[in-house]
Amino acid sequence: MSLVIECMQTWERLREEMSPETVMRTDEPMASKTTLRVGGKAKYYIEPAQVEDFQKALKFAKNQCLEIFVLGRGSNIIVLDSGFDGVVIHFKHSNWKRIEEIDENRFYAGAGVRLKEVCGYAAKMGLAGFEFLEGIPGSLGGSLRMNAGAMGGWLFDVVESVCFMTRAGELFEAPKNEFNLGYRHCKELQEAYALGATLKGSEKLPEESIRQKIMKNSVSRKASQPREPSAGCIFKNPEGNFSGRLIDSAGLKGASEGKAQVSEIHGNFIINKGGASSDDVIALVNRVRNTVFEKSGILLEPEVLLLGAKWQDILKK
Ligand code: EPU
Repeated sequence: MSLVIECMQTWERLREEMSPETVMRTDEPMASKTTLRVGGKAKYYIEPAQVEDFQKALKFAKNQCLEIFVLGRGSNIIVLDSGFDGVVIHFKHSNWKRIEEIDENRFYAGAGVRLKEVCGYAAKMGLAGFEFLEGIPGSLGGSLRMNAGAMGGWLFDVVESVCFMTRAGELFEAPKNEFNLGYRHCKELQEAYALGATLKGSEKLPEESIRQKIMKNSVSRKASQPREPSAGCIFKNPEGNFSGRLIDSAGLKGASEGKAQVSEIHGNFIINKGGASSDDVIALVNRVRNTVFEKSGILLEPEVLLLGAKWQDILKK
């Protein structure tokens, strides 16, 4: 029997084992699930309803030697037009969107909760320290993995502990000090999947003063970042410098490949002007990276994730 047929049969058996609310589809279009809005289909797509369903999905992928990608808000990812041959898991079911107070200083949020909601929930509780999350278009799960940040803060600043599942399907909860953290990086969550986190504030403040700070952040973000579809910042900031500034100084603002364009507002954003292909975006990523290297000697490294290939195979020198 061919491997493809065997895999499809296992997939159909998996469907029978899943709880009825779990969604399973093949050849799922991905572009509309990302903020950049480019890319092809995912071969296997699962929205698990329960922790056990997620465990079964991981087991299926492992047994079939398929790559796994856990999709959050899709705000930091470029999907290739040729698609992804593995399993995309999306924490879309309401069970992953639970958010609830633990005590007056702490609350729990599931991996599928949006950062916008985390920020608003903390404000309502009168918990300061979350204001920098305003406007980061991510979900909590993906943002934990990336240790997402803005305005001088990063997500783990407000984390007390994280509940996660290993690739082998084991469930753990670990305090923040057990994670190796860096700029846009959490080592342990490259090999495991965050299911939710206990979050804590820095101090109690009146809701109104927290909301004012959120508003200030929102105004400065709107003035400095584009509104068009994008994947946020494309490159990490190199040590001691800013990718946006380097791209700007290299005269690349407004540069385009097909329907992908370097934002006129912020050099580190590539926007989709409507109908861009992933080839357009990748061609522009390479052009920007090579031009900045020629002009400054600094080689920028992507911050956005790539689905369908590895960056090292796509980046041209
Ligand atoms: N700059 C330019 N030209 C540009 C863009 C920026 O000269 O086209 C200069 C700015 O004037 C400023 C410096 O570069 O002096 C830094 O710019 P900015 O304040 O916009 O911050 P950033 O380092 O470019 C980071 C994060 C953003 C986050 C903002 C706001 C990274 C790669 N980016 O941007 O995160 O929203 O700070 O705090 O760390 C993301 O991760 O996707 C993202 C957008």
